[in-house]
Amino acid sequence: MKVLVIGGGNMGLTYSEGMSKSPLLNRRKLMIQDLSPETQEKLRENPEFEVFDKLEDCLPSADIIFIAVKPYHCVELFEKMKSMVSDQQVFVSLMAGVTIDFIKDHLGVPKVVRTMPNLPAKVGLGVTSFTESEAVSRVELLMVRNLLDTTGESIHVETEKFIDKSTGISGSGPAYVFYFMNSMLEAAKKWAFQIMILKF
Ligand SMILES: NC(=O)c1ccc[n+]([C@@H]2O[C@H](COP(=O)([O-])OP(=O)(O)OC[C@H]3O[C@@H](n4cnc5c(N)ncnc54)[C@H](OP(=O)(O)O)[C@@H]3O)[C@@H](O)[C@H]2O)c1
Repeated sequence: MKVLVIGGGNMGLTYSEGMSKSPLLNRRKLMIQDLSPETQEKLRENPEFEVFDKLEDCLPSADIIFIAVKPYHCVELFEKMKSMVSDQQVFVSLMAGVTIDFIKDHLGVPKVVRTMPNLPAKVGLGVTSFTESEAVSRVELLMVRNLLDTTGESIHVETEKFIDKSTGISGSGPAYVFYFMNSMLEAAKKWAFQIMILKF
């Protein structure tokens, strides 16, 4: 099975690192495509990745395609992808707030899995909720689930309503906790610095 990740930023890289070790890949390298030359250079340091600049060199041959760009980049991306996709491919979106119908309409494909990942996936402790369009078969869904599980645990939900709920709780929640912890750390550092100045 050939897996492609579009977008090698925070989430794309995190899921790529997890999935590249999956036996589902049958020792094939995981394909990643990103527009930025700096990101491509960094990605090439990992021997388990096959890194691409152009979609036409990787998209047509992929079976499962993960989309890990920011939601505001997706319309432009879908325009580029449209002429290279097929009805047999499964598209897995990591994008917050982009609905299955929107992806189906703009890409012109029937098989879409929508997920809500979270940052603890970076250390293998992620929780990813996911749901799918009608055209995705049980076998395909199982393969996607196995890939998602390489970063932690995945939870199947019946409808997108639950994806929206998990966006606020598990998707963005950890980031708020990290911001809060970071601001306490910064305050503590500032305070310690002031004490040092007063002492000397
Ligand atoms: N980070 C989180 O905690 C989190 C949690 C839940 C969901 N998500 C979702 O995950 C998705 C990715 O977020 P992120 O934090 O990983 O963003 P990110 O770090 O900005 O990564 C996105 C990557 O995609 C690249 N890109 C943009 N347009 C592209 C295109 N047309 N073709 C190929 N690559 C393209 C970007 O390159 P440039 O930098 O050159 O633009 C960047 O390397 C988002 O949709 C977000 O909603 C993130």
